[in-house]
Amino acid sequence: MQIKVVSDSAEMTQLIAEKYAQSIKSPVVISLVGDLGAGKTTFTKGFCKGMGIDDLVTSPTFTIMNDYTSGRMPLYHFDMYRLGSKEEAEELGFAEYFDLRKLKGVSIVEWAENVQGLLPALYIEVVFTKLDENKREISIGVKGWV
Ligand SMILES: Nc1ncnc2c1ncn2[C@@H]1O[C@H](COP(=O)(O)OP(=O)(O)O)[C@@H](O)[C@H]1O
Ligand SMILES: [Mg+2]
Repeated sequence: MQIKVVSDSAEMTQLIAEKYAQSIKSPVVISLVGDLGAGKTTFTKGFCKGMGIDDLVTSPTFTIMNDYTSGRMPLYHFDMYRLGSKEEAEELGFAEYFDLRKLKGVSIVEWAENVQGLLPALYIEVVFTKLDENKREISIGVKGWV
């Protein structure tokens, strides 16, 4: 099943993500796909709000992962932009966050394309397409080796 919506502002993207977060069950990996500025981090901010996380959510560009524990389940926000392979992510100790037998909570990941093979057999993919300055198509679906 694929859900497609068009958001016409950053606020609407956050609201869509906030609502979507309420239906999420642990453990789950969510891959956010889209160009720079497409809205991946904006979506994550709304998603965190929907999880009941009250911290300030910022892009983990330099830390690669930020974790949040104040919500209804733990949430791990990754930005793999600076990584080049699955092995690099594993060397940093990230494998356990993508293993559904070990993960408790949600791993939400930007630029998973850079760490091919790290995602579990089944995951959620959210694709952001920039339609114009403030419009984004957001497509949510289940992906994996099924
Ligand atoms: N409909 C929209 N949805 C999400 N972001 C939007 C939208 N319209 C404009 N924007 C702007 O686009 C930028 C998206 O940035 P960001 O979420 O950091 O992107 P990414 O993490 O994909 O690089 C923000 O400056 C945001 O305000
Ligand atoms: Mg980002």
